Amino acid sequence: MCHVILAVGFSFVCLMHSVSCVMALDQDQPININGSLFIEPGVGKSFRALAFPNATRTFKLRGNQTGNLFTLIEGKILIGEGPKLHLHHNEDETFRIISGQVQFIIGNETFCAPAGSVVYGKRGIQMSFRNVDSPDAYVQFFFSPSGIENYFDEVSAVYTTVPYDDNKANAIANKYGMDMFDLFRRILVPDPAQRARVIDIQSHRWMSTIYSQDGTQSNH
Ligand SMILES: *[C@@H]1O[C@H](CO)[C@@H](O)[C@H](O)[C@H]1NC(C)=O
Ligand SMILES: *[C@@H]1O[C@H](CO)[C@@H](O)[C@H](O)[C@H]1NC(C)=O
Ligand SMILES: *[C@@H]1O[C@H](CO)[C@@H](O)[C@H](O)[C@H]1NC(C)=O
Ligand SMILES: *[C@@H]1O[C@H](CO)[C@@H](O)[C@H](O)[C@H]1NC(C)=O
Repeated sequence: MCHVILAVGFSFVCLMHSVSCVMALDQDQPININGSLFIEPGVGKSFRALAFPNATRTFKLRGNQTGNLFTLIEGKILIGEGPKLHLHHNEDETFRIISGQVQFIIGNETFCAPAGSVVYGKRGIQMSFRNVDSPDAYVQFFFSPSGIENYFDEVSAVYTTVPYDDNKANAIANKYGMDMFDLFRRILVPDPAQRARVIDIQSHRWMSTIYSQDGTQSNH
């Protein structure tokens, strides 16, 4: 049993030490506790995050809910899914791997991040990730400061338009302080000391597979 202690619009939440808990009736909105928020599972607007079929994320917190301090996004990462190599000028991006595992590039390094990992990608450093083979990869994305949600609002419309216009998506990324790279352009390192790592990146299976809008795959 559980007492209703808060009523906000059509939402009711119970905060008791009892075992059962009544879910909010309004599943679309966080429950506002004088500016603090309770966001139940499944609450948040979903959007297409990449030019990859069904690459869906959910906004959990936008800047206008966090004093513009951060943006929180999460989602299942489908096999094959991942962004282009890119770089944020405006925000740091922290990834928390909730389940499954994801391959990362941060700077000139590539590594596999299993469930429980945290990857902190600083602004100004090239980064990318891809789910190579994990059927249950689920990741939270924490951007600080906020603002990236406006980029996703705008670019998701391009991603859901067929045929996909890569130049348009890149222009929106630039507008929001991101550089998008063709995968290898920035990774060709002249420094011999770095070469082993670079070869590792280039020979990595996920770096040599192109996933197209219709879900087909091909190799470089
Ligand atoms: C929330 O705001 C209401 C109305 O302004 C106030 O009466 C109440 O005490 C506040 N609750 C908390 C926990 O601050
Ligand atoms: C934040 O911005 C989104 C998108 O513009 C809007 O739907 C939402 O109502 C805003 N929330 C607040 C608390 O202002
Ligand atoms: C990656 O390698 C290039 C070329 O050596 C270098 O300019 C760049 O600073 C490196 N990036 C990082 C994050 O180490
Ligand atoms: C995307 O999702 C739809 C609906 O679940 C499904 O029918 C379709 O096969 C998916 N496409 C790909 C490429 O996974």
